[in-house]
Amino acid sequence: MKTLIKNAAVVLPDAVERVNVLVDKGVIAVIDAAVHTQADEVIDAAGLHLLPGVIDDQVHFREPGLTHKEDLRSASRACARGGVTSFLEMPNTRPATVSCSALHEKLALAAERSLVNYGFYIGATPDNLAELQRARRTPGIKIFIGSSTGNLLVDEQEALERIFAETSLPICAHCEDEATVRANAAALNGGSDYTDHSRIRDNNAAIIATRRAVELAERHRHQFHVLHVSTAEEIEFLRTTSDLISGEACPHHLLFSTADYARLGSLVQMNPSIKSLADVAAVWQGLLDGVLEVVATDHAPHTLEEKQQPYPQSPSGLPAVENSLALMLNQVHQGRCSLAQVVQWMCAAPARIWNLKAKGAIREGFDADLVLVDLTLSQEVRNEHQLTKCGWSPWHGETLTGWPVRTLVHGRTVWCEGQLDERVCGREIEFDRGD
Ligand code: DOR
Repeated sequence: MKTLIKNAAVVLPDAVERVNVLVDKGVIAVIDAAVHTQADEVIDAAGLHLLPGVIDDQVHFREPGLTHKEDLRSASRACARGGVTSFLEMPNTRPATVSCSALHEKLALAAERSLVNYGFYIGATPDNLAELQRARRTPGIKIFIGSSTGNLLVDEQEALERIFAETSLPICAHCEDEATVRANAAALNGGSDYTDHSRIRDNNAAIIATRRAVELAERHRHQFHVLHVSTAEEIEFLRTTSDLISGEACPHHLLFSTADYARLGSLVQMNPSIKSLADVAAVWQGLLDGVLEVVATDHAPHTLEEKQQPYPQSPSGLPAVENSLALMLNQVHQGRCSLAQVVQWMCAAPARIWNLKAKGAIREGFDADLVLVDLTLSQEVRNEHQLTKCGWSPWHGETLTGWPVRTLVHGRTVWCEGQLDERVCGREIEFDRGD
């Protein structure tokens, strides 16, 4: 099957050009194809921009075990709508993905259920080194150096040393220092309102754990990715680290601050917590300066009922996967960053850091995972329109300018102007690590 995408402004690795793109058998076959090239399907994309599909390298899709919040089907529908053509999912499901057999079971589930491409991290525990060493069909190892949703935690120095010294897959971590979080919680008697969440999971907790993990990675010469950086202190520190280290920002740490608890309460309760306006400005600066390379969501759905419990029973996490590209395009509209930067942060950088084969750019020979966006379309985020199973968004009521209008996975349209094609299937992501 051949598809010709005509008249789009195509965001290529080094330029935006009005060229025709020919997709053949799921692969980008020709860039700058002649306008009369024969094709089975012609998409006239006049007025639209063509981007590589978004690669979200940090999501929690809850299957197996927590499927009342989300499952691979509902989450991948939300991805399709949001222009996300590939996701890398975290191991804190039930059971947790801490063995090769659990990893392979998840891959088999996704093969039947996901509309977009999928990959799954393997989670570290204090004693699953052999599994971490054997795992291949995974982007890398996830360590919770501080505990979050679920019971995955590796906090002892000896276990961390072994993981960094004796494994070869890239590592990423949730960096909030457990001892600091516990001491802060004790000082506040566990906390009594949502604003306490940012006092308990404070800037110190983040920087202590980030320093500790980076020190381990650099000493053991291990590739390491700091997830969801939220503080000015971490940005200053990451300016000084080596090329082995990369970092990431999430939309909620770029767009919400502690001032938003008054309006949104537990809907913006996240780990790491949202921080001050000064931290938000620093995380933005870190991204613009290239200290942070990736924007990913940490999509972490909980039902509204669960979220409405009083603090600290209310769980941490918010959904974002179907709005993340629009949220960032809205920032382009507001002049805060460029379209090329958004493509770097959401497509090219995650593909490079996690060694995704033939993804993350519009290049001949790369997979035709593509999204057409309308930079002039203004639409309101509405809870009732969300495809995520949890059915809400912390951005409900906000009007964003710049939206995905059509998403293609391996050259097949999976979502177009409000319609999903549930027959389209994602594929297992391959990794080019030379192993
Ligand atoms: O707030 C969070 N919720 N942060 C995480 O790292 C995990 C996530 C979840 O799984 O609910």
